Amino acid sequence: MSTTLSPDRTSLLSESSAAVVRATAGVVAEHAEQITARFYPSMFAAHPELLRTFNQANQATGEQPRALAASVVAYAVQLIDPAAPSFAHVMRRIAHKHVSLGIRPEQYTIVGRHLLGAVGDVLGDAVTPQVAAAWDEVYWLFATQLVAEEARLYAAAGIDPAQPTRPYRVVRRAQETSDVVSLVLEPADGGPLPRIVPGQYVSVFVDLPDGERQPRQYTVSSTRQGTRLQITVRRVRGTGGAPDGRVSGFLHDRVAVGDLLDVSAPAGDFVVEDSASPLLLASAGAGITTVLPIVEHIARTQPQRPVVVAHADRAAADHALRETVLHAGRELDDFTSHTWYEQLDPADTTSREGFMDLSDVPLPEGVQVFTCGPLPFMRHVRATLLARGVPAERIRYEVFGPDLWAQDVPDTPVG
Ligand SMILES: Cc1cc2nc3c(=O)[nH]c(=O)nc-3n(C[C@H](O)[C@H](O)[C@H](O)COP(=O)(O)OP(=O)(O)OC[C@H]3O[C@@H](n4cnc5c(N)ncnc54)[C@H](O)[C@@H]3O)c2cc1C
Ligand code: HEM
Repeated sequence: MSTTLSPDRTSLLSESSAAVVRATAGVVAEHAEQITARFYPSMFAAHPELLRTFNQANQATGEQPRALAASVVAYAVQLIDPAAPSFAHVMRRIAHKHVSLGIRPEQYTIVGRHLLGAVGDVLGDAVTPQVAAAWDEVYWLFATQLVAEEARLYAAAGIDPAQPTRPYRVVRRAQETSDVVSLVLEPADGGPLPRIVPGQYVSVFVDLPDGERQPRQYTVSSTRQGTRLQITVRRVRGTGGAPDGRVSGFLHDRVAVGDLLDVSAPAGDFVVEDSASPLLLASAGAGITTVLPIVEHIARTQPQRPVVVAHADRAAADHALRETVLHAGRELDDFTSHTWYEQLDPADTTSREGFMDLSDVPLPEGVQVFTCGPLPFMRHVRATLLARGVPAERIRYEVFGPDLWAQDVPDTPVG
């Protein structure tokens, strides 16, 4: 991986700032969510154009402010504690997300101003000039590393961050289940598809009927056809009085064959390396979208590599892409599939009832795990596999939202 992600952390922060950060990290951590909850409204008030870059649902639910708070605290801790776990995977995830949204170096000044302003507002008199200077240094170290990594990703993919999307035409729609639709997209400029590594996502920007523009990420669920990419979207329903999902609803109800969508270049580091290790792909619900491209890729490039897929869903009727995954799996020499349904059809004798339970599923020696689904699901998968002796570093995960995993599982090195 890039050297920008693994510098000698202990020497990064000046000695005077390190002492201040050591003394104040606790109080900043304690107030971090209060700080980021204040930061975003102040930044959006000064720069309303950014409302079109940030996912507004993640603001409403507080997930993005929590993810930002957690990342800044974790970054500061690893600067002052050489024994802290590696931060490289967090940095990589943020950089990929930023690149898919066209974040530019000059925007770090805006975020810095409002974030450090919020630190001052929340902590008040505790923020002496020395404290402000120390946290300013932490912010800019973090920012500089992200800018460097993002510049590397932009350059490698040939992306101009001022123009991060291309128009794609919807050439086909396939209703996979009652609430899942696949959209097959082709670059409208007639150019070739960018390089897509199986497991990566694109950001799709849509102009909603109320005039707002919003991005969302969707995994490239298939790249079987070399000139087209496919995304597979589960309709999100609001529960407990929350609104229905805006972009998934729009893609389901309003987007027709022939329409254009603004789509970013592929991003994301949830990707399988070309090694010989057997794979376990454990998914739930919409997480199946990461499984199909990986199985297709292995079938194309390493058909002898053992693959076990395990999927959990509400019912067989909700299990999107099931047949397509099985079809691709038939091209592998050693492919096994397991399914769990909360509501099991009595006639289905091959699936199991209830939540996924990997405690007795035969696993090949040296298995490498890729899991994608809701956080509680992935935590359960991880706990079961750790108990079975699968090393933590062999378990990779993808969160379909701001990554809040590390808050509860700080020892999760992935990457
Ligand atoms: C890397 C990545 C890959 C992904 N891949 C896929 C994929 O392949 N397929 C797929 O279907 N999805 C995928 N997603 C999820 C996708 O990006 C969207 O998050 C999903 O489609 C929901 O978007 P939405 O606009 O429909 O819902 P949103 O409008 O974003 O709503 C999301 C949730 O927030 C709640 N909410 C919104 N506003 C409020 C409020 N004011 N108060 C309380 N609650 C509120 C909603 O009720 C809903 O539950 C992926 C996400 C990531 C990060
Ligand atoms: C040091 C500075 C920054 C840090 C530490 C940071 C951190 C983060 C984190 C932790 C995430 C969530 C990643 C995930 O798990 O998916 C994120 C997403 C994001 N960041 Fe940054 N970021 C910084 C700078 C910026 C800047 C300058 C911008 C541009 C204005 C920006 C825009 C975004 C957007 C739009 C998202 C996606 C939000 C969402 O989907 O809700 N960030 N960032």
